[in-house]
Amino acid sequence: AIDPQFTENRAQVDTHKGHDVWGPVEEPEKLGVHGTHVAVDFDICLADGACLEDCPVDVFEWVETPDHPESERKADPANETQCIDCMLCVDVCPVDAIDVDAG
Ligand code: SF4
Ligand code: F3S
Ligand code: ZN
Repeated sequence: AIDPQFTENRAQVDTHKGHDVWGPVEEPEKLGVHGTHVAVDFDICLADGACLEDCPVDVFEWVETPDHPESERKADPANETQCIDCMLCVDVCPVDAIDVDAG
């Protein structure tokens, strides 16, 4: 599962489409965590897609990640500022790849 303390245990190494990327990142095998309010651990996501289907405000968009060992696309929190903290994505992800900081 994603580490809920990722902002303390990882360093912000990049930005992607306006959100933070938390390392370590060593492409293509290691991709880190994308997003901060809505955070997806790309190294855990296996492209189930439930988060894209269920988010009521379309926070997530697919991003292609060729040659990643878990899956060749990931749910990117491209519109994390739209999040309404419903927590559906956290509940439906089968591998607990998503953390939403509703606090
Ligand atoms: Fe979308 Fe709700 Fe997840 Fe926010 S908590 S990203 S609104 S499903
Ligand atoms: Fe990935 Fe979980 Fe969404 S596996 S596509 S973050 S439901
Ligand atoms: Zn991203």
